[in-house]
Amino acid sequence: MVKKYRLGQPFDTEAVVKQIESLPFEDIPFEKETKDNFTSISFELGKDDLIFGLGETVRGINKRGWIYESWCSDETTHSEDKRSLYGAHNFIVVRGKTTFGLFVDYPGRVKWDLGYTSISNAVISIEDCNADFYYITGDSERDIVKQFRAIIGKSYIPPFWAFGYQQSCWGYATEKDFIDVRDNHRNNNLPLDCIYMDIDYMDNFKDFTVNTNNFPDFKGFVDDMKSHNIHLIPIIDAGVKKEKGYSVYEEGHEKGYFCKNDDGTDFECGVWPGVVGMPDFFNKDAQRWFGRQYKFLTDMGIDGFWNDMNEPALFYSKKGLDNAIEKLKNIDTEKVNIWEFFNMKIVISELPNNLDDYASFYHNVKGKMVCHKDVHNLYGTFMTNSAGDFFEEEFGKEKILMFSRASYIGMHRKSGIWFGDNFSWWSHILLNLKMLPAVNMCGFLYCGADLGGFANNCTRDLVLRWLQLGVFTPLMRNHRALGSRAQEAYNFENTEDFADVLAVRYRLIPYIYNTFRRCSDENDMMFRPLAFDYPEDKLAVETEDQLMLGDECMIAPIYEQNKNGRYVYLPEDMTFVKLSGENVCTENMTKGIHYVDVALNEVPLFIKSGKQIPLCKSALSTAELDTENLEYIG
Ligand code: GLC
Repeated sequence: MVKKYRLGQPFDTEAVVKQIESLPFEDIPFEKETKDNFTSISFELGKDDLIFGLGETVRGINKRGWIYESWCSDETTHSEDKRSLYGAHNFIVVRGKTTFGLFVDYPGRVKWDLGYTSISNAVISIEDCNADFYYITGDSERDIVKQFRAIIGKSYIPPFWAFGYQQSCWGYATEKDFIDVRDNHRNNNLPLDCIYMDIDYMDNFKDFTVNTNNFPDFKGFVDDMKSHNIHLIPIIDAGVKKEKGYSVYEEGHEKGYFCKNDDGTDFECGVWPGVVGMPDFFNKDAQRWFGRQYKFLTDMGIDGFWNDMNEPALFYSKKGLDNAIEKLKNIDTEKVNIWEFFNMKIVISELPNNLDDYASFYHNVKGKMVCHKDVHNLYGTFMTNSAGDFFEEEFGKEKILMFSRASYIGMHRKSGIWFGDNFSWWSHILLNLKMLPAVNMCGFLYCGADLGGFANNCTRDLVLRWLQLGVFTPLMRNHRALGSRAQEAYNFENTEDFADVLAVRYRLIPYIYNTFRRCSDENDMMFRPLAFDYPEDKLAVETEDQLMLGDECMIAPIYEQNKNGRYVYLPEDMTFVKLSGENVCTENMTKGIHYVDVALNEVPLFIKSGKQIPLCKSALSTAELDTENLEYIG
């Protein structure tokens, strides 16, 4: 049962697609407080109550005991002291005396104090008096999630080939770079379906341009790659470079399609291309206009995109930079003491993603100026929807691959997400796993992390272990930062181990794809905490390094270095399966704790007794997969 409680006159976030009658906020079954510009709801937490959800966040599957803030952030260190990452996923399910779901439909900052200030209290607050609150009860956590997902609409389904393996690196710049990646995969028996084009493919980081020195015949190149069953997937950043003669900028500026300062001039800030105008995706004309720019690339055969820097990430605002330089200019270098030195550092470190900047620019919402900070969490979503609308109009559904870094619930109908700039850290394999059910709860099914880690230097074993989790995530992309250690599979010794793991992904594609489609159709979760499936089993409830996958499987990847296996808890009898290349090794196991050995070229999987899953033969691309002739294991 879903009940909607309305406070004031909420901004239309477009998150909920189902019409639901509004009840007065006063009737919401929580303690509540509303002051001039502040609203909070709170409820008691029993000793053993659990809280699930919040999508893309740090820490555990059970979110209790920390304070989170929904505020889409260009957050480069996903350490456990952080409160926000790139997405604003305002949905939780609380298991307590009554089990309920809660969606706070509000596009500004939401604070979730989930037993942080007081372990026995949850307090959720916003600095506003306008929001919709959805309260959902049901038979189980999974049922509550399904009811929630039914009101926010069906999840995006990408093309079939988007379930293949994908290679990315910030730094591939020329045709030769891409051809090398392709050939090195093909020549080493490593399957591959997509290669990503990071900002380096553009002309001076300008959206909807291509560097013609590096790609003299871009369309021909895209076609040629397709003839090898490789899709090229370019990045699109939110900011549009301010440059005379650059038609996208000039048109956007002339038509008033960029965000504005309070005096009506364009708000300007610095991102990768230097000074940019920020498209005002809240203005429907501007939103449509930006979406149609993707045509420049789709006309050349491109059929996949990743949207980035759309929290939006601001390295500096023009105003902020001018002020900072003024402050630094006035420093007398002869008199700098240690405190002044630290102050100087702060002047620069406070420039990126500054809250004063977010409070200083405006969107045109049906002719009314709305301050960015009040609707911040929708920016990336409205960017991505601009493209999604265009793709659906032009090509229909399921034709174009797209995922975004920033997101709000609602965007899940048009696009997937990736989990942003993680590190080549073992702990980030586990964080990747923990985020999966939480984002599924919010409708994001097509998702995945940068496998191998984005920042810092990876090791061979880390990449292999991470791929062994990635084998199950709908988006399976290896991506890394400029300057970090090469982590393409062919750059390591004994490439055959990588070929074995990637072959497993291709063998599993029929299962993963069909499970994905079913979860989209039935508003179900593809990955669930064990706590959802075995609510009475204390050990299962506390297990946070294993997940249920579909209705048949459990996954338990290895996420520590120098380990040849791990302990796994089986909440019921299961078949332990080790997959490696075309090899399948099975062993029946009884409910309980087991130590399982898993070599670096093996993928561990557990199948519930009485269930089976299909495997096809592996291939070097999805186009070559024979999905008709299946073998069943279990
Ligand atoms: C951002 C993205 C990252 C990308 C980089 C350069 O940090 O999150 O994936 O490689 O920008 O475009």
